[in-house]
Amino acid sequence: MRQKIVAGNWKMNKTFEEANILASEVMGMVADEVKGNVKVIFCTPFPYLHPIKNLLGSNSRISVGAQNCSEHESGAYTGETSAVMLKSMNIPYVIVGHSERRQYFGEDGKLLAKKVDIALKNGLTPIFCCGEPLDVREKNGHEALVKKQVEESLFHLEAAQLEKVVIAYEPVWAIGTGKTATSQQAQEMHAVIRKHLAGKYGANVADNISILYGGSVNAANAKELFACPDVDGGLVGGASLKSREFTEIIKSI
Ligand code: PGA
Repeated sequence: MRQKIVAGNWKMNKTFEEANILASEVMGMVADEVKGNVKVIFCTPFPYLHPIKNLLGSNSRISVGAQNCSEHESGAYTGETSAVMLKSMNIPYVIVGHSERRQYFGEDGKLLAKKVDIALKNGLTPIFCCGEPLDVREKNGHEALVKKQVEESLFHLEAAQLEKVVIAYEPVWAIGTGKTATSQQAQEMHAVIRKHLAGKYGANVADNISILYGGSVNAANAKELFACPDVDGGLVGGASLKSREFTEIIKSI
């Protein structure tokens, strides 16, 4: 059975004090409710990973993830953080290829393939993001683009490696805009991705991959989105910064 996941992507928000308050409040409200096959992940800024991990304690269902990692192992790359470092601090997840990284930092499919590789090599679970900008959807090119993004960065993996990857479908036009994909649009694209994976790796492997939806998920729309058969949870930006709202989203899975 594939894992259900609600991941909060804090992006570059919150002071350290605010971050502690947010994580403690969410923990206080959901710690007893995150059961069974559900995982909650706080994708915090790098400096907060370790302290927030400590704050979360030993609850294995609630953990932290990084928002990025370097494609390099180590060396003279000022300002970068490696997968080796994350591993050495027992950080289990890392977001790879968020559209903001693609857009503002010029990350392309080939580079992201390297980041996926180095994350897996270090035992981290990459949360690999894909999704089309608005102009591509308007020209009906979304399926082709997302399939290409998945091919470019994941199709070199062996099946056993792919099974360790989480995919997040995040249409760029829905990120931070308040304009969510309808549950039908989300389901359609998740099914396209899963079918594409099945074409290459077989249905059994594809069925085991968690595919999260991201893009203006909030307390009001989470239930309907998470009820879609191919939506295995969410990658939540803005709404993960508010403890009550994020808690409601977690309870919707
Ligand atoms: P949003 O961000 O929920 O604020 O739209 C989602 C994301 O960027 O992961």
